[in-house]
Amino acid sequence: MIQFIFAKEMGNPSSFEGRHPNYKYMKNNKYTVTAALPYANGPLHLGHVAGVYLPADVFVRFLRMKKEDVVFVCASDEHGAAITLRAKKESTTPQEIVDKYHQINKKAFVDFGIGFDIYSRTSNPIHHQTASDYFKVLNDKGSFTKKTTEQYYDEDFKQFLADRYISGKCPNCSNDGAYGDQCEKCGTALSPMDLINPISTLSGKTPIKRETTHWFLPMDQHEEWLRPWIKEGILDGKQQHDPKTWRNQVNGQCMSWIDGGLHARAMTRDLDWGVKVPVEGADGKVLYVWLDAPIGYISATKEWAAKNNKNWKDYWTGDSKLIHFIGKDNIVFHAIIFPILLKEHGEFNLPYNVPAYEFLNLEGDKFSTSRNWAVWLHEYMAENPDKIDELKYVLTSIAPESKDAEFTWKEFQARINNELADILGNFVNRAVVLTHKYFDANVPNRGELTDVDKDVIAQMAEFPAKIEGLIRKYKIREAQSEAMNFARLGNKYLAETEPWKLAKTDMERVETIMNIALQITANLTIVFAPFLPEKAKTIAFFLNCGTLDWDLAGSVDILAASHALDSNKPSILVSKIEDPFVEAQVAKLEASKLEKAAEDKAAQPIQHPVQKAETTFDDFMKMDIRVGEILEAEKVKKSDKLLKMLVDTGLDKRTIVSGIAEHFTPEDVIGKKVSVLMNLAPRKIRGVVSEGMILIAENSVGELSFLSPEETTFNPGSDIS
Ligand code: MF3
Ligand code: ZN
Repeated sequence: MIQFIFAKEMGNPSSFEGRHPNYKYMKNNKYTVTAALPYANGPLHLGHVAGVYLPADVFVRFLRMKKEDVVFVCASDEHGAAITLRAKKESTTPQEIVDKYHQINKKAFVDFGIGFDIYSRTSNPIHHQTASDYFKVLNDKGSFTKKTTEQYYDEDFKQFLADRYISGKCPNCSNDGAYGDQCEKCGTALSPMDLINPISTLSGKTPIKRETTHWFLPMDQHEEWLRPWIKEGILDGKQQHDPKTWRNQVNGQCMSWIDGGLHARAMTRDLDWGVKVPVEGADGKVLYVWLDAPIGYISATKEWAAKNNKNWKDYWTGDSKLIHFIGKDNIVFHAIIFPILLKEHGEFNLPYNVPAYEFLNLEGDKFSTSRNWAVWLHEYMAENPDKIDELKYVLTSIAPESKDAEFTWKEFQARINNELADILGNFVNRAVVLTHKYFDANVPNRGELTDVDKDVIAQMAEFPAKIEGLIRKYKIREAQSEAMNFARLGNKYLAETEPWKLAKTDMERVETIMNIALQITANLTIVFAPFLPEKAKTIAFFLNCGTLDWDLAGSVDILAASHALDSNKPSILVSKIEDPFVEAQVAKLEASKLEKAAEDKAAQPIQHPVQKAETTFDDFMKMDIRVGEILEAEKVKKSDKLLKMLVDTGLDKRTIVSGIAEHFTPEDVIGKKVSVLMNLAPRKIRGVVSEGMILIAENSVGELSFLSPEETTFNPGSDIS
């Protein structure tokens, strides 16, 4: 029974208080943790997961274990050009696009075990109301300046061009595909007027300029407080956050933006999809998506609070800490623009931290929806519902915290097999199996301690604080690797003490060793719980110990002597990933990329090559073309492309080399009747003399076909020229 497990409840509280002097008196902090609202314009891939949602989830799971008062909010970002352009591309409506991807992404998050308290959507009425009211508050306060300016306009589509409706060269990094609001390559926030050689993404034409009126946020007026706030964490003369825990990347991007001089930025758009601008004279205008979406964090909190009998304002005011997990392309929106909007509103807290992630690449290339180079979360979940924590482990291990990182299936396999299975899985299995074997699945007594034991116990006590410190500094990757070091310590301990050998001679010693090994196992269920919640549960099940508090971690008295483990033999905690799995995943990636390329090509109008220069009838008649039958074929050594064939031409049997090996295997071509250009001058190709040419056609998508006489009566030697 659970009440007998804990040494803490068995009259030994001193060791706890010794390590955690304040643990009883620590007051619960409030945290509002947000993860960037994903655009509902496509499915989520592993890059999104590794660089926003998973670290946010780990952080929140940890806080909950510490009994902090956390709300974890997210939603689909359903407005903006990302959505309307996607709808146009798929010849459907924005509503259909957001409905489709909201469902897919919401389900993928649930299946993968991202524990949002709420996953809302910005098309909800509560959000329209909240965003609209927010705009009115700022407008009434005079936070905006209304200005009529010239903006780019597409005459064909009769539309003003902002954000993703316009693209051009980035003035900062010279990337050609920068958008009117941002260069996704270097992260710089832009205005359409900043782009070099702008073109409309609707018509592909150079736009004209036209006048229109918008509500601008005069960001230049906010430089003065932004600097000390970002750099030193000081706001209104008070220490609002600890700047040492802000990532360099975040500081750097913000400072370079501020140093470059902040400009007024339009907070409204001439579009019909979004939150209507709630003031007179704003017909046909909606809120800028980067004004509307972050307010979605507030709307989602409201929605959650209403359903859970909470006061949403508690999480946005007072000493509640607001933490935004985002990708690096979102930095300025969360660390400059939204803070200005929050400060102008006056009632709400500013972010306490903005942990931003770099990008994750995939098998040597960028994740790309347009090229179909991605591992989609919902597909992974459909195919591998039993490998959730395996993926979490790998993604956290390679999380792009301080620089871009790369996901490969080979590394996926290596991390799971060599670390998760061989270290954690192996240790837990040994500890539990040996206890079953020697002690009938009961926790044995811990007797006299040797130096090895004392050393291990001392090291155990260090891990939780180390892991906690790292998580609190948003170093989730390192924190997980410390948790794995804890499991390593367990393995090392068993390897050094070798209880399986002592079992023949010194059972009392084995009791002590296994007691300590089981205490380490119990510790692992705690320290791994934020990272690998399912595995942690499984280990706890083996131990029959229920959920353990974080504050027990580090203790060697978690499981009381004679506590009964689960009576069944433990199952395999982590199955190894076999080579065929890896090969299949890589092949799938390559295939989907090719498929997409072929689809794109097929969707394009066929471009026939221009006609070649005129030739004469006499020249044409010089060609001697006959039917040949391929008798033998083999690949030319050290060449991927060349096939060497022996061809019966009726006149002779001759060797012909042709560059078709990527399209046909030798078996494909043997026995084929083909057209042979007989009198082409012999040529040496890779050391083989080729006497003639086999006539082949290639279509516009690169498929090959022999020009073969269909009639079976065309026997080798028939002259068909
Ligand atoms: N949808 C945006 C993106 O994917 C992120 C929006 S975050 C929010 O880049 F703060 F605006 F909500
Ligand atoms: Zn750029």
